Amino acid sequence: METYTAKQLWEWALALPEQLAAEPSGRNVPSTSSPLPRRNLVCGMGGSGVSAQFLAARGPFIPWRWATTPDWLGAADSLTALSYSGETFETLAVTRKALASGVRVSGVTTGGELGRLLDERAAGRLELPVGMPPRAAFGYLLGAALRLGGRLIGEPLWDPVEVTRRLGELRDDLVRDDFTSLRPLAASLAGRRLVVYGTCPLSAAAALRWKQQLNENAKLHCWNGALPEMSHNEIEAADPGKPPRRVVLTLADEPPPLDEIIGDHEVGLAFSAPPGEPLTRTLYLVLLGDLLSLLIAAERGVDPGSIPRIAAFKQTGWARRAYAQGED
Ligand code: PA5
Repeated sequence: METYTAKQLWEWALALPEQLAAEPSGRNVPSTSSPLPRRNLVCGMGGSGVSAQFLAARGPFIPWRWATTPDWLGAADSLTALSYSGETFETLAVTRKALASGVRVSGVTTGGELGRLLDERAAGRLELPVGMPPRAAFGYLLGAALRLGGRLIGEPLWDPVEVTRRLGELRDDLVRDDFTSLRPLAASLAGRRLVVYGTCPLSAAAALRWKQQLNENAKLHCWNGALPEMSHNEIEAADPGKPPRRVVLTLADEPPPLDEIIGDHEVGLAFSAPPGEPLTRTLYLVLLGDLLSLLIAAERGVDPGSIPRIAAFKQTGWARRAYAQGED
C-alpha cells in the first residue's frame, strides 16, 4: 500500500489552481461529433467519481457510482469513465459493458486496466500524472473531465484561464494569511461528527468533496447532504444529546439562516466564497475543505497520507472477483 506524507498532501492541495490549469495530453481524444450523444453518463468512484458531480452541475451529464450500467444506456449515448488508477472494479465493469454495447466511451486516467481497455478500442482518453493518491489529483482529474465534457456536448463547460487565475489569487490570500481563519475552526471540529450541505448543485458537489476529504484525510465521520432538501426530512431527526456539527457551503451572498432552518437548539456554520463566477467560488470552497481536512488530521493526530481500509477493501475476495469478471 502506497503512503504519502502530510507535506506532500499539503503541496498537492495548494496546487489546485495549477492542476486545473494543466493541459492534459490525450490519445484518440474525440472532437465534437454530430449527432451529439443522446445522454452522457459519467462513471467513477470516490476521489475520481466526485468530478462527475461537478460535470452534472455544469451541463447535461449523469453521474454514476455503481458497478452496473443503466438499462437505457445504448449506442446513441456516451460514457466518460473517471479513474485515477484505472483499476477500480466498478468503473471497469461499467466501461466494459458500455464498450460491448457500442456506447461512445472515453476516459480520464493514469492508465491501468482502464487505459488498456480504452486503447484497445481506440477510445479517447486524457492522461493524468502518476505518483499521487487519487484524491490529491482532484484538480488534474476535474480539469481533464471538464475539457472532455465540453468536447462531448460541443460547448465549453468553463473558462480555464479565468477560473484558475482567480482561484490562484484566492489561494495566495489564504497562504499569506497562514490559514489563520481555518486553524481555530479545525480545532473546534476535530472531535465532532459533521454533516456538510450544499445549497445548489455546485456547492453540493463541493459538499461531497468535503465529506470524502474529511473521511480519508482526517478519518472523521462526515456525511454530505443538500439544503433545502434536509429541511423536508432530516431536521425531524434532531439529536439534542449529541448533534452532529452542521456545515453549509453556499454560493449565495447571504448565508441561509441556519438557526431558523435547523432550530434554535443547534447552531451551524456557513461558508460562502467571495463573489465571482460560480465554478471559481465552488473550487474555493473545495480548497477550504481540503485544507481543513489536513488541519483536522493534525489536530486528531491521524495520518492523512494512508487509507489502509480502502486499500484492504480493494483486495477483498468480492472486489477482486468482481474486478476479474467485470460482473454486474
Ligand atoms: O481517494 C481514494 O483513494 C479513493 O476514493 C479512490 O478515488 C477510489 O477508490 C477510486 O479509485 P480510483 O480513483 O483510482 O478510480
